[in-house]
Amino acid sequence: MRRVYLDNNATTCLDEEVLDSMMPFLRQSYGNPSSLHRLGDEAAAAMRSSREAVARTLNCYPSELVFTSSGTESDNMAITGGALAAGGRRRLITSAVEHSAVLDTCHHLAAEGFELTVLPVDEGGSLDPADLEREISDDVLLVTVMAANNVIGTLQPLRELAAIAAEHGALFHTDAVQGYGRMPLDVRDLGIDMLSLSAHKLHGPKGAGALYVKEGSPVRPLMHGGGQEGGLRPATENVPGIVGLGKAAALAVENMDARNRHTARLRDRLLDGLLEIDGAHLNGHRSPRLANNAHLRFDGVGGTDLVLRLSDEGVLASTASACSASSPSPSHVLSAIGLDWGQAESSLRLGLSHHTSDEDVDHALEAITRTVTSMRDAKRFNPPSA
Ligand SMILES: Cc1ncc(COP(=O)(O)O)c(C=O)c1O
Repeated sequence: MRRVYLDNNATTCLDEEVLDSMMPFLRQSYGNPSSLHRLGDEAAAAMRSSREAVARTLNCYPSELVFTSSGTESDNMAITGGALAAGGRRRLITSAVEHSAVLDTCHHLAAEGFELTVLPVDEGGSLDPADLEREISDDVLLVTVMAANNVIGTLQPLRELAAIAAEHGALFHTDAVQGYGRMPLDVRDLGIDMLSLSAHKLHGPKGAGALYVKEGSPVRPLMHGGGQEGGLRPATENVPGIVGLGKAAALAVENMDARNRHTARLRDRLLDGLLEIDGAHLNGHRSPRLANNAHLRFDGVGGTDLVLRLSDEGVLASTASACSASSPSPSHVLSAIGLDWGQAESSLRLGLSHHTSDEDVDHALEAITRTVTSMRDAKRFNPPSA
């Protein structure tokens, strides 16, 4: 059976070139980068190149990057590490559509005595900078708003939000786990103080991420130990993962325009075809939106059931985010854009990549249309009572 992978907002396949770049560090160059001998030097040199490669993509200094295990760890380090270093400031501001790595960290800090403000979004998932302007005050330590949403792909006005945070002396952090490699992110130009990213969303390995921390930004380490990563993230480094991250980042940014043109064209074909189904609706704005994301709902069709049936047809998709897939409650993102329980529960997320082809879209269109129709027909069929 043909397999069509449309869950690229959950994770992506490891690209061949990225795997090739990692292999020497899984096999012969297995040294600890802190060791003084030749194997240690090889590992340290590879980490240096990777740090420089990621720094080029963000327009920052290599010394401003901390390698971590994941986007989740980067978010925790930025928010909790920022809060621990904040001195007298006790307020945090975030948005209602953040990933749980951000929202749960903020709520945890609120339980520890920090004050938390969660800004609303409009029906497409966009934040209005005027809402931040109204809520912010000089006791805010950190504003954290994502670059691109992981469920409905909405892009946020980072430049405007960062400027408002700066006016009030607050740090501005962005969770760019979905946006990095899929949209231009020049941290100097945008005025960003901290930015989280994760390799597995851009055809790199799982278990490798990074946090950009602008020089001089106050952040305390969450772990204590050997002093690696400037003391912010002590642990023996995941050298193959870091090498893979550097390669995947360079490829993603170098090929961003071509990849975005490709995925946007196929995404629009998919979206336009699916919106022809009776009772199909787009969730989120059509623009500004990640080029690779489509999110729809089909009246009267259970999203979880649809995802499971599509899996049997070889079409691999999801309802909302991978982390919320096993939760019985609807995605907080879909609630935040005003969908009721039934609407949120009838949703389908489709995430494309540069590997997606026109034939994949043809197969998905046919399978989704047929499955939605047969699920509705089965509901209408009432067996005669005996
Ligand atoms: C927006 C966003 N933030 C954070 C994360 C967590 O990243 P990781 O899986 O690397 O921990 C994800 C992953 O789904 C995400 O989409």
